[in-house]
Amino acid sequence: MPNKTQYAKDLKDKDTVNSPFLVKFSAMAVGKNGKPFMNLIFMDKTGEIEGKIWEDVNRYAGQAVRDAFVHIEGRCQVYQGRRQIVVGRLQVLREDEIEPKDYLAESALDPEALYSELLGHVATMKDPFCRALAEAVLRDDADIVDRLKRAPAAKSVHHAYKTGLLEHVVSMTGILDHLAGHYGKVIDRDLLFLGGFFHDIGKLWELAYDRVTDYTTEGKLIGHLVMGVELVDRKIRELEAQPGRLPGVFPEEKKLLIKHLILAHHGQLDYGSPKRPKCLEALIVHMVDDLDSKVNAIRTFIEQDQTPGRWTALSRQYERYFFKPDWAMGGQESPEAPRS
Ligand SMILES: [Fe+2]
Ligand SMILES: [Fe+2]
Repeated sequence: MPNKTQYAKDLKDKDTVNSPFLVKFSAMAVGKNGKPFMNLIFMDKTGEIEGKIWEDVNRYAGQAVRDAFVHIEGRCQVYQGRRQIVVGRLQVLREDEIEPKDYLAESALDPEALYSELLGHVATMKDPFCRALAEAVLRDDADIVDRLKRAPAAKSVHHAYKTGLLEHVVSMTGILDHLAGHYGKVIDRDLLFLGGFFHDIGKLWELAYDRVTDYTTEGKLIGHLVMGVELVDRKIRELEAQPGRLPGVFPEEKKLLIKHLILAHHGQLDYGSPKRPKCLEALIVHMVDDLDSKVNAIRTFIEQDQTPGRWTALSRQYERYFFKPDWAMGGQESPEAPRS
């Protein structure tokens, strides 16, 4: 069985494809001629590419299923401006025939380094209640620590790769630290930090991320905002039950504010928040979350764009074309660049 030598990002029009991929999406459809065919999305650590199976559909229908590793022989072609693999042959691979890390995108940053940075931020917290809570969740709970080093921040859209959630949280905490310094005493820095740490913590269980990222049943039924609030509630009760962990009973108002930061971080009722931000810390956490996720999403979109020249293809999500700066040109000279 040939190893992974071809990657989704590198495939070009008319390339012969002979390589394993992970199936991200698979659906049957019927063509205008009444014949069934399959729509697929294949993925590996470099990105995704669409695929079509026109022949032997019944044979492949049970094999090219989501989460399957498959070896593909076929041809890459560009159809209506989009690359797709027309699959000639497909064979399901066993787990021991593949190297899982070739198929799942991961953060460019080291999980251990990110995690120490996170604990570094926790160590600067002043309020003993807030700090004990942060330590109980982020330092002392082995299951959370393990998940935090692996979880993506989303199924798609932003930080949608291994360790993406931790990258997002650490990035946000850096920004929140600056803003706490900038705005000074009107802002409770410890509360702001807890908002950064915990706003998406429910995603550790809202998403399943061993293979293709998807929502769990708990994620679909409850969602990461309420799941985060439940976690905070449970951790505070556990802390209160352990003698000596807290200097007293956890202040009720602080508890409510921490929960509010989580519940309000989507900013609006129609974006899934049951409460709009009703304190400055909640407003800042919401806006920094929005900023950090958009910067990551647009940066990734620009990086993965394959359109020649200075402008990306149309981003359906943001309904605009983006300008590609020099770092995104990958050695390709801009047609508009002045000649020297
Ligand atoms: Fe969120
Ligand atoms: Fe977030």
